[in-house]
Amino acid sequence: MSTAAEYFGAMQWTPWTRVVETDLVPKTRIEGNLFLTLSSARTEPIAGRIIETPEDQEQSEVLRNPRSGFVAYVPVGSIKRGEHLVTTGGMSVVEGKIVPGKTVACGTCHGPDLMGLADVPGIAGRSPSYLVRQMYDLQQGKRRGASSPLMQPVVANLTGEDFVAIAAYVTSLAPPLPAK
Ligand code: HEC
Repeated sequence: MSTAAEYFGAMQWTPWTRVVETDLVPKTRIEGNLFLTLSSARTEPIAGRIIETPEDQEQSEVLRNPRSGFVAYVPVGSIKRGEHLVTTGGMSVVEGKIVPGKTVACGTCHGPDLMGLADVPGIAGRSPSYLVRQMYDLQQGKRRGASSPLMQPVVANLTGEDFVAIAAYVTSLAPPLPAK
């Protein structure tokens, strides 16, 4: 396990998922665990979803090109809404008083750049389906690692719409380019 971890850990982060805010998305079909587009035209309402699909189906599906990434279509306004939840926990100021939000600022544990801190995993720039899946599993108590309880108060009051906004923002954070 540690040999494999060292191998993967030595790889530099590269941008993988391009985030696009939009009202309309291409029609898709599900194949395996992927959404594949039926046409490139954006004709279907996004309706609060995130649609994550390969930039180039042939490169991803047939050739397994590790340099051909994904595009994530996200609802208009979700990146900004997610940024507020992620950076402040959703805090607001009412009549000069600070009112805590429904979650906790993520940088405290995941690092100011959300690239991870000590044992806490990095989340910036990662696949939005993966991020939502993990937050949902943590909320449902299905992910039960030794440090999972630290995430419980974070996800306890979040709705599906909050998960979408948070994932849209966190995925849009491009990891730093590899050092040459
Ligand atoms: C109190 C510390 C703490 C805060 C605050 C926190 N996290 Fe976490 N987070 C963790 C820990 C610890 C883990 C690893 C949990 C485990 O091992 O199951 C984790 C795991 C995750 C994962 C799964 C990552 C993976 O690699 O599988 C996601 C996604 C995540 N956090 C998102 C967030 C978001 C979004 C926020 C802010 C809204 C946030 N976290 C705030 C401590 C925190």
